[in-house]
Amino acid sequence: MDALTASEATELHGTVLRHLADCREWSVDRAALAIGPKVHLMAAWADRLVRHPALLSIAESLLGPDILVWGSQIFVKRPGGTTELAWHQDALTYDLDSDGQLAAFRVWLALTPTSVENGTMCFAAGTHHHGILTHHRQPGLRGMMRGDEAVFHEAEFAKHDVALDPGQCSLHNMLVVHGLGLNRTAETRVAFAIDYLATSVHPADGIDSALLVQGQDRHGNFVLEKSPRDDLGDDAMAVCSEAVRIRMLRLQAAEAERRKAGILTHG
Ligand code: NI
Repeated sequence: MDALTASEATELHGTVLRHLADCREWSVDRAALAIGPKVHLMAAWADRLVRHPALLSIAESLLGPDILVWGSQIFVKRPGGTTELAWHQDALTYDLDSDGQLAAFRVWLALTPTSVENGTMCFAAGTHHHGILTHHRQPGLRGMMRGDEAVFHEAEFAKHDVALDPGQCSLHNMLVVHGLGLNRTAETRVAFAIDYLATSVHPADGIDSALLVQGQDRHGNFVLEKSPRDDLGDDAMAVCSEAVRIRMLRLQAAEAERRKAGILTHG
């Protein structure tokens, strides 16, 4: 879908690169927050982005008027990298519940062109009708990072590569199986992902937080977050790191549960 104009995307691309360069000078712990999962809490520019009218209009068309942002993340894929992402469902790691599948989805916004050659996202169409699949965790092979891999009959599903121009975005819900390849071009690929939730969504277990970006929260399922007043200010960084700490604790507990339930297996 079209979201930002080409010039907005170019400007945002520059902002993201400056943001990453600024964060590189920090301590390891703090610098790790630079790419997410809550960039919208550490920088006013990211807070403005997740509230961009074009993105909110897309979110409202799927979720209704009451909208939360649960996560925001920067994805930089450099040429010649060794990180590809195996087929997976986000539902495995999000650990969110809702009555309908469409009550949560991720916007994947291209800030540079995305193509098969630079390892763009690929969807396995129709896989979201099959619930949460078993995922298999394999030790890295020759330094390759692949993550947890969904177990499914790959040949039975059509594949759709997401070719985007800067400013365009793809949308996916928590259950559709997707993967990302290696960047085999000479250019770095940059994307920004935003997780939008209806306020009816809730953590499957434990406490978590989210930012109300439109409408009202009549459910109270998340601790509501506070927008940053500036970029990388001390107050914002304290709020961001505490929110991420709580998120990670919850997701670690959820991962242990999935292992117990046999949904996540080890090679
Ligand atoms: Ni994913």
